[in-house]
Amino acid sequence: MYRILKFFLFKINPESAHHLTFRLLHFLFSIPLVPSIFKWSYQYKHTSLEKKLLGLTFKNPVGLAAGFDKDAKHIELLDALGFGFIEIGTLTPKPQPGNDKPRLFRLPQDEALINRMGFNNEGVDAAVERIKKIKNKQIIIGGNIGKNKVTANEDAIYDYIYCFEKLYDYVNYFVVNVSSPNTPGLRSLQEKEPLLKILSTLQAINVQGKNPKPILLKIAPDLTEEQLNDIIEIVVESKIAGVIATNTTIAREPLTTDKNYVESIGAGGLSGKPVREKSTEVIQYISEKSRGKFAMIGVGGIHSAADAQEKISAGADLVQLYTGFIYKGPSLISKINKSLVQ
Ligand code: FNR
Repeated sequence: MYRILKFFLFKINPESAHHLTFRLLHFLFSIPLVPSIFKWSYQYKHTSLEKKLLGLTFKNPVGLAAGFDKDAKHIELLDALGFGFIEIGTLTPKPQPGNDKPRLFRLPQDEALINRMGFNNEGVDAAVERIKKIKNKQIIIGGNIGKNKVTANEDAIYDYIYCFEKLYDYVNYFVVNVSSPNTPGLRSLQEKEPLLKILSTLQAINVQGKNPKPILLKIAPDLTEEQLNDIIEIVVESKIAGVIATNTTIAREPLTTDKNYVESIGAGGLSGKPVREKSTEVIQYISEKSRGKFAMIGVGGIHSAADAQEKISAGADLVQLYTGFIYKGPSLISKINKSLVQ
């Protein structure tokens, strides 16, 4: 079914296709019995898939990566498709429109995407109101937080605190995103001093709360070994729960798509198959160096069960999908889960 839908969706621009798909799915889900049919078709359950991590019990280890449901509009629908957990965001304190369109591009030959969305979102308060209305309280929701474009890096900490406090009672884990290439200067927050300040401050607020939440740091795949060593030190020192590796890359290889076309797209983060190897290398490096001291979620270029296995073998405790979900459709989730059971 997804193959037919994809044939038509890939004829229109990617951002419109995304919104159209969700409009269609919400319409279908409003018809009695349709949600059950989706659940029956896509959800794969097995007790051996259950994973206890971060003080939570995940029904399966395949989650939705950040950026797909930025505003928490489709959580129950995505849960029905079989994801073990859903990460919303990146959310910022104030709503912001993101970069000018077009800002999302397909590279079908490489099963990849380039995006420079720029944290378009309706703001953290709107997301909180939506989460409050979710009936199924069993769904594990991650809150991925960032800073507004207009906020200077020196003041970024206040944006992270604002989002953290607003979401505190409504999400199961947090992700501090300092690795998007599409907010000017954001990635320099991955440097030792500002990063330690952000993570230590959030963790200090966290442990004072009545129900501390695991905090994870999402990192770029373009960091040097020296920077990765710093990251490990900071994660341990700030006592946060772990790392999500990785975000999109600013690199443009390995690509088979026409070079002129790729250049004409301009700036943005590359995701999908071409980032797979780099992401896995980062996971492997961190896992070996940290000797499994903290949790790790692996993301980047997972388009098959073997790709998911690769991330887990490299040291990931859980995995997430974004671009693979676009190219392969929802059956990818159950394919990965079935292979993990085997
Ligand atoms: C993303 N990603 C992302 N990550 C994040 O932490 N916050 C965000 O807002 C977004 N937004 C976003 C938009 C689009 C259009 C894409 C394609 C990606 C990154 C995403 O969560 C993931 O880390 C990377 O895309 C790598 O995984 P895949 O896509 O190769 O599976």
